[in-house]
Amino acid sequence: MSDSNNTEKKLWGGRFKEPTDALVEDFTESISFDSRLYEQDILGSIAHSRMLARIGILTTEEADSIENGLNVIKTQIEDGEFIWSKAYEDVHMNIEARLSEAIGDAGKKLHTGRSRNDQVATDIRLYLREATDDAIELVKNLQHQLLELASGEIDTILPGYTHLQVAQPISFAHHLLAWNEMLERDVERFNDGRKRINVMPLGSAALAGTSFPIDREYSCDLLGFERPARNSLDAVSDRDFLIEFNAAASLLMIHLSRMCEEIILWASESHKFITIGDAFCTGSSIMPQKKNPDIAELVRGKSSRVVGNLSALMMLMKSQPLAYNRDNQEDKEPIFDTIDTINASLRVFAAMIPSISVNRENMYRAALNGYATATDLAEYLVRKEVPFRDAHEIVGSTVHYAISEKKNLPDLTLEELRTFGTMIDDDVYDVLTLEGSVNSRKHLGGTAPQQVAIALKAAKERLLGKPQ
Ligand code: ARG
Repeated sequence: MSDSNNTEKKLWGGRFKEPTDALVEDFTESISFDSRLYEQDILGSIAHSRMLARIGILTTEEADSIENGLNVIKTQIEDGEFIWSKAYEDVHMNIEARLSEAIGDAGKKLHTGRSRNDQVATDIRLYLREATDDAIELVKNLQHQLLELASGEIDTILPGYTHLQVAQPISFAHHLLAWNEMLERDVERFNDGRKRINVMPLGSAALAGTSFPIDREYSCDLLGFERPARNSLDAVSDRDFLIEFNAAASLLMIHLSRMCEEIILWASESHKFITIGDAFCTGSSIMPQKKNPDIAELVRGKSSRVVGNLSALMMLMKSQPLAYNRDNQEDKEPIFDTIDTINASLRVFAAMIPSISVNRENMYRAALNGYATATDLAEYLVRKEVPFRDAHEIVGSTVHYAISEKKNLPDLTLEELRTFGTMIDDDVYDVLTLEGSVNSRKHLGGTAPQQVAIALKAAKERLLGKPQ
């Protein structure tokens, strides 16, 4: 990037007698971060110039020359030959200034009937539309990995927890399908936000529209927007769509952080439910035995910055009067950071999933040791006409006894069990075992392997976009 020099005349310089203070130039520039919008800026400019030619403001030759000039600039940027200049403040003026330098007067006509205010709003919408599609694809890729893992774990039993205390046995695939539900909602949210991103501000100019007879439907079609924005004041100042994107990203990261938390727990020495592949763990500089789940920890950690960006964006918009204010330049760094963070997190998290091996015996043992079938015993008693509250009490005493005897519930003899209730018969063992417990929860949404297999098949079909 070049610093200011006298040959770089400000495009808005006509009104000014003194040069911009160097401190001001540093403080107000956005080129150091908004050059990322170059592709969208060029797309928007080409659509605008074609529209101007269509309504007779530019000749076809002028519009062609603008389009060619912009395409050359695009190549220069992509080849790293374009020199960005702080003196031109932002991506819009850098490109426009270079265009005029290269093609002369036609370049100077490009800004007719437009302002940087509708230009930047258009650019950022084009950018976010793509970011939304990328995010959706990456979430779906993660879903695919999780469903693949789930396919082999339908009959794997582990304890389900409430309060992080062993609660009831569940199928591991059922657990993974719960994660999949979270991600499916994330995809829905991104898709829903996309509708409000895909609206075109171009034509709103600075805030009040323009006196030229612009054809907004035409530029809208060229840029693939759903419709032109209905109100010029709102169009240049609205950043709701950006907040919505960041809100969807925040929930996604919160979901990932919850998954990470469980992965960290499951990989811990005390659980050993899973082993994460070496390629996705790191070691300690002092403790040679350590193999740490750093990916999961970092993704969990990174969720905080995405939520922080949401907060920054909401505060940015709070109390802003209509229409555009320079405050809005502050929308870019948080949203770019959010995009980078979710992309990187989704990529590495999805790559880690196939490296996980499942230690089924440890999962099973943890469910056995935790008296996870106590509720099944209570429900068994209810089926034997015992009121639920009484059944709860009886099973509480049974568990207390089993703990004192250092036995698991299925290890208690029928004689022992009958001391707590004479209605208990041999068939009690059908529900006391972990398999009996999970098998009995066979209704829609339940954890019985037969139901989980149906749910998994349906989840895979939804992911592939098959009609249900
Ligand atoms: N760099 C500015 C931004 O990101 C572009 C719009 C500036 N408009 C203006 N009137 N100063 O918001």
